[in-house]
Formats: sequence, C-alpha cells, structure tokens
Amino acid sequence: MGYQHIEVEPVSGSVGAVLHGVDLGNLDDQTFDEVHQAWMEHCVVFFRDQAITPEQQIAFARRIGDIHFHPYMRGLDEHPEILEIVKEPNDGYTFGSVWHTDQMFNPQPAMATMLYAKEVPARGGDTMFSNQYLAYETLSAPMRYAISAIRTFNVGDGFRRNSGKSSRAERYATNPIMQAKIRDPGNVPTEAAHPLIRTHPETARKVLYIGNHTQTLDGFDEKEADALIDFLRNHSARPEFTCRFRWEVGSLALWDNRCVQHQALADYNDRRRMHRITIAGDTPF
Ligand code: SIN
Repeated sequence: MGYQHIEVEPVSGSVGAVLHGVDLGNLDDQTFDEVHQAWMEHCVVFFRDQAITPEQQIAFARRIGDIHFHPYMRGLDEHPEILEIVKEPNDGYTFGSVWHTDQMFNPQPAMATMLYAKEVPARGGDTMFSNQYLAYETLSAPMRYAISAIRTFNVGDGFRRNSGKSSRAERYATNPIMQAKIRDPGNVPTEAAHPLIRTHPETARKVLYIGNHTQTLDGFDEKEADALIDFLRNHSARPEFTCRFRWEVGSLALWDNRCVQHQALADYNDRRRMHRITIAGDTPF
C-alpha cells in the first residue's frame, strides 16, 4: 500500500525514514494510519519542525498505546508521562549511550519510545539506530538454528550484580540532573528473561533481541555466555544495519523497541534537553 497523506524519505539503506507532511499536534486518522504503516516498514520514523505541547506529545503517544512509566526514573512533576533527559556542559554521564532496547529488564519491555528535541548541541548528540530484523536475517542458518531456543537474562542499569556500582545514584553521579530523577523502583522488576530470538507481534518477522541490558544466557556457563553475547552484540550493531539521526529543535523520533536498538552519542559538551515518552509493550515471544 502506498502513501496518500505523507511523504516517506528513507535515511539509510537499512532503517529509518523522515516523514514529511505531518503535524503531530493535529493528526487525522488517515494520516495517523500512514504514519503507523511507515513506522512498521522503517522501524524508526522522524519528524522535523514539530511545535507540540507536552499534552499533544502525550496524546500522540496514547494513540499508539498505554504509557510505560520508567520504574526508577521520575518524570516531570506536571507531566509524569514525560521523562526529561538533560545533559549540561561538563556532565560526565550521557543517558542511553550504549546500544540497547528500552526497558529490556522488564518482563513487558516498552514497545516504543518517542523522543522530542527541546534543546540540542550545536553539533554532536546524534542518536543511532540499528535494524534487528537484519541482525537476525544475516546470521547463518546454522547459527540461527543453534540460538533459536536461548533465553537471555536482562538487568536494569546499575542493578547488575557485578556492575561495581552500589546504587543508581552512584551510576548517574556525574550528571546531577539525571541523578536527581532517580527513584526507588519499589516492587517493579528490574530483571527479566526473554527469548533471544523474538517474533514481532505486528509484522510476524523474527528479530535478534539483545542489548546492553543482557547480562547472561539461561543455563550457559559464564564464559560461554560472555563469548556469545559479545559476538551477537557486535553483530547486532554492524554499520550496514544502522542510521544516524541529527537532531534539530522540534525534531521527534519514534522507534520500535521490538525491532531496533539505539544509542545516544556522547560526542558534545553543550546543553541537550529531550522529552521522552515510552509506550507499554507485551511479553516477548
Ligand atoms: C534513550 O536511550 O532513550 C536516549 C536516546 C537519546 O538521548 O538520544
């Protein structure tokens, strides 16, 4: 099916497209359906020059699904659905600066994430995305067979048994703004087991489901698990599976955590401020 209401401009040979002709603050049903179709096709979609209020960003997110609240990061006081990601000059910690897929440490990880740029560095601070359908499909048939029944064990940042960090606050200590957002997860789980190969519930395609939260593989000896995880994480972020998005104020990215990994680049020293909403997902199978 083609597109009647939007223009779709792919940004690389493998993942990501800029969608033109969309006002996210005023989205009719037909345009929303085409945005959704393009999103399923390209895994991450980008919008430029959006001037939307927090209420409008939340309303757009709710059309995709229920809001997923971060278990140990506090949202804005007036809009708890929105996690404000801020980095000031000389902050040492960059949120999300390793390849990962959001909330993989949760039994029902976030289905989607949207990030809306409020302030951006003069240069740098791009976000990279990697297509995990391709990561799966480019493995050899014997490798796909060998890993087909493996389950991963995934742990939230700062909760790893061998992370050497005594608390979440310590992990974020070099970025005081993000450190102040830490809250106790209470009874919300920060560990989860998932299939290494998952099936996307909407496209029915298979995906390599791995990321920085993956700590070990169920039933494997530690050295075996480390070697296989290393190989698969390197493979999953091969440059030919990726795109790189340059932010402008008013840009919004919407990505599908079920089939992409992403990574924020820590190559700048200006203020960067983003409004992030995650959308609830189901149990991976
Ligand atoms: C994230 O990992 O959600 C943040 C990505 C970014 O700030 O570019």
